[in-house]
Amino acid sequence: MTKINELEKEIRNIKRDPIPKRTDEEIYKLVGELISKMTLEEKVGQMYQSSFEGAAITGPEFDSSKVVDYIKKGRISSLIGLSDINQIYNLQKTAVEESRLGIPIIFAHDIIHGYKTSFPVNLAMSCSFDMQMIEDMAKTLAFESSRSGVNLTFSPMVDLVQDPRWGRVMESYGEDTYLGCKIAEAYVKGLQQDDLESYESIAACVKHYIGYGKSEAGRDYNTVELSDRTMRQSYLPQFKAAVDAGVAMVMTSFNSFDSIPVTHNKYLIRDVLRNDLGFDGVVISDYTSTNELIYHKTCRDEKEVAKKCIVAGLDIEMVGECYSDYLAELVNEGRINSELIDEAVKRVLYFKYKIGLFDNPYKNIYSNSEKYWLNDKTREKARDVSRKSIVMLKNDNSILPLNRESKESVALIGPFVDSKEVLGPWSGFAEERDCVTVLEGMNCQNSNLSIKYAKGCEVTTISQESLDEAIKISENVDKIILTLGEHQVMSGEAKSRTSISIPDAQIQLLEELSQLNKPIIVLLFNGRPLELNYVSEVASAILETWYLGTENGNAIADILFGVESPSAKLTMSFPRNTGQIPVYYNSFQTGRPFLANDPDLAYRSTYIDSANDPLYKFGFGLSYTEFEYSNIKISKNEMSKGEEVLVSALVRNVGNYCGEEIVQLYIEATCFSVIRPINELKGFKKIFLEKGESQKVTFTLRESDLAYYNCDMEYTPENTLFKIRIGGSSVSYLETDLKFNI
Ligand code: GLC
Repeated sequence: MTKINELEKEIRNIKRDPIPKRTDEEIYKLVGELISKMTLEEKVGQMYQSSFEGAAITGPEFDSSKVVDYIKKGRISSLIGLSDINQIYNLQKTAVEESRLGIPIIFAHDIIHGYKTSFPVNLAMSCSFDMQMIEDMAKTLAFESSRSGVNLTFSPMVDLVQDPRWGRVMESYGEDTYLGCKIAEAYVKGLQQDDLESYESIAACVKHYIGYGKSEAGRDYNTVELSDRTMRQSYLPQFKAAVDAGVAMVMTSFNSFDSIPVTHNKYLIRDVLRNDLGFDGVVISDYTSTNELIYHKTCRDEKEVAKKCIVAGLDIEMVGECYSDYLAELVNEGRINSELIDEAVKRVLYFKYKIGLFDNPYKNIYSNSEKYWLNDKTREKARDVSRKSIVMLKNDNSILPLNRESKESVALIGPFVDSKEVLGPWSGFAEERDCVTVLEGMNCQNSNLSIKYAKGCEVTTISQESLDEAIKISENVDKIILTLGEHQVMSGEAKSRTSISIPDAQIQLLEELSQLNKPIIVLLFNGRPLELNYVSEVASAILETWYLGTENGNAIADILFGVESPSAKLTMSFPRNTGQIPVYYNSFQTGRPFLANDPDLAYRSTYIDSANDPLYKFGFGLSYTEFEYSNIKISKNEMSKGEEVLVSALVRNVGNYCGEEIVQLYIEATCFSVIRPINELKGFKKIFLEKGESQKVTFTLRESDLAYYNCDMEYTPENTLFKIRIGGSSVSYLETDLKFNI
């Protein structure tokens, strides 16, 4: 291994000639020539992604001490989780110069919502409904990663979610398929930029294929029960959107589907993903999800794992050694056809040619990577994205925004006021020390407010002393700003909760502060919907701030002082209590629906101890101004196959501030050959209106927007009447009719 200072000199001298753009035919010719020279062991080597000691791991640790030896033998295709640029260079140099065929290695990592500049967690960003913003964010993420040795990120994560007990909802885009498709597309376009040869893009891997977000009881890695119909209707379109956007890789999920683990589910990988969606890129397992098939009890041993996975169409095994230990043996015993190996290796080598690794194995290895990270420009972008991810859930008597000229006094209370632990899970290589706290953000706003701070309690504990201190400084102020929520380690992978409540210590702090009869403005820090019944009763205002990352405090202060009006809208319903889960906007009516106009009717699908609907609904979010909807119009009330209609409404800003409004388009089929949701998002447009300004917002509705898998599993509309809705949330809209005639 080369000495460090020599390495650094070599890295500084890496040449970066443009990567030639080749046709698929040209690439496959080169791949074919290379495969013809490869031994069976070298081919199998292209199907193994290893971790490396000290790398960020997300599952059981494996012995990676033999990695360098494996690289020299051409038995490793990719490494995951590395960030030391000298180490990355050295390992790549070993692969290129010391292995027999010099096949370069793919360096991969989970750069989900930022490399060094940390953007809000995905669930937060999804609430912006701003696809251009998300695409631009992904471009920034790709740029920082491309300067740091990363060739591939395991993103976008497109799991549909309806259960906030699951810790990974923070990584998702919420409960709606249509929105998930739009965000998947924006992410892939931002990461890959339709130019994988570029030095500014990185390859994307869409995950987790498929159904992982439906883990039973919200318990991570648990069993999934999903019909083929629901899988195709609600979970598959997001993957199709990513595939249609050119995503380079797909990752299989830990869970089973129809009782067969996805990692060796031939139907899902070969029939659905490859044949139905036309995906011909690389399929990679999740972290050790191959070895875990033994726990699923569908494989007796790792040799059977290797056989079942290669037959199912899995190309690369992530941090599992079943392939490297047994595939060659299985071929030599005649138990698998060597063509299965060749087809996988062909896809892997195509990927490496396509992203330019054969032309320049060091394309993403730069000296002084830090000079590309976290600058004023990326911070400003992160601040803007963070502002647009904050959802205002309540604002009684327009207590917000704060008046920076007033001489009022404000108490900042709670465990997140002066916390830099706001990156959220999956924060790449972002550092908490770079985060702006709420206290810092408030103090940088040069207001005349007198601001005092007391923590009041820890996330899960409270002391009489801390409580007394909080009460003392709050007794004589005009307003209290109280931060409540979960610590970031309570969200993310393997962080399921049986309760979505705010920790008791914080509720006690809120109860004590509410005795002071002063307006309380609550700021929420959380990666999942929380149970907010009590908070919604006692707070005058509630801002859902999630985990906003690097520019956390500045963005929150900007919204509090009205630098920008909150514009985000919820993409996941907030249940009234854990017992309601799952509760989501696009549910089904059932045969005994609750009838609002006859609430006491017996024997209905209701609870005896709770309302049916969530506390805060999908698509809901307040602004400092108000938007009035009127004049819904449709170009015609009947349409047939191949036709389209225009639906419009007038939106007026009737409040006292300028602001953005996310105008939403929903439909409901009044009758269909299968049960269909009571509401379906089919469009959204974000508009900006000055005070008093109005705008006609028009959507185009096509046959495909009205389609659904019918009783014969044909994706089509039917002769039926549709309700067409335009509004500011899934429960507040204008409505008109549209008859579809086959
Ligand atoms: C994890 C996650 C997956 C991630 C992978 C690599 O267990 O399930 O989302 O990309 O391992 O870190």
